[in-house]
Amino acid sequence: MNITSNKSLLDVDQLSEVHIQSIMNEADKLSNDNIASTKKYTSGKSVLTLFYENSTRTRTSFELAAKKLGADVINISLGSSSVKKGESLLNTVKTLEAMQFDLIIVRHSDAGAPYFISRNIDIPVINAGDGLHAHPTQTLLDIYTIQKKLGTLKNKKISIIGDILHSRVARSNILGFSKLGANVYINSPKTLSFFKNKFFEQKNSRVNFVDDLDHAIENADVIMPLRIQLERQEQGNIPSLREYSKYWGINEEKIKIAKNNVMIMHPGPVNEGVEISSGLVHGDKSQINLQVEHGLYIRMAIIKTILSEAK
Ligand code: CP
Repeated sequence: MNITSNKSLLDVDQLSEVHIQSIMNEADKLSNDNIASTKKYTSGKSVLTLFYENSTRTRTSFELAAKKLGADVINISLGSSSVKKGESLLNTVKTLEAMQFDLIIVRHSDAGAPYFISRNIDIPVINAGDGLHAHPTQTLLDIYTIQKKLGTLKNKKISIIGDILHSRVARSNILGFSKLGANVYINSPKTLSFFKNKFFEQKNSRVNFVDDLDHAIENADVIMPLRIQLERQEQGNIPSLREYSKYWGINEEKIKIAKNNVMIMHPGPVNEGVEISSGLVHGDKSQINLQVEHGLYIRMAIIKTILSEAK
């Protein structure tokens, strides 16, 4: 089953429910396989990670995933590439194409960069996060984590709270969660909301932008506070971190009106004590480490699927 016509994974909007479920099933199988079996799946293939932005979780788990599948992995980051000498993105990826990699995994600060790359080279591309636009593998690992705990996303109340404006995770998660039948609630300070929330509301009635934080939290099955993206704050979006934390920081007190078994998720990295309390990060409702573990299985499943389709 081809997950896309050009065999790249650029965002979740290209995936049907059937595609998403097939990636979840593959991740399940791979999580139970021993290393001797998984090493055979993409043995002899070469995978490049090309990261123009910082990352801990995504880059490391892609590298580990590809190695567990038996592939050879080369990592290039902004600091070590000839971009520093003025080479263009197009010339960089044409150079890398000439080395005949089988798969390129790219993170870039410009929205659309992975699309541009995939249009210009004949190698599958995975979007590992592009600017404020999309982060499809984060969405797939979040879906996997929710399905594992709750069985389904259908009719579940999933609330995404905080710095929506700067969040590619929010954009992809809104598309992915609502596609699987969840009721997605969005709450943020007005200055950190989407300018185009009408786009999501018109596209999908399952997305609810609410002004009141309690409205988002009440009876929620999943609460996902987002990191305040300090590196992307224009001056004056919020008065201070202290004030943000007081009104939007998610803590034990504020989640008392959520469901008893509410899942606390966070894509990471976490500003502990700002958008989420330390107690919730490390408490029994926290799924944060499980999300990271699931990221490995999901990325293995995606790499295996794309490389087997590219044969
Ligand atoms: N969630 C996420 O993308 O984390 P990193 O920036 O550490 O990869």
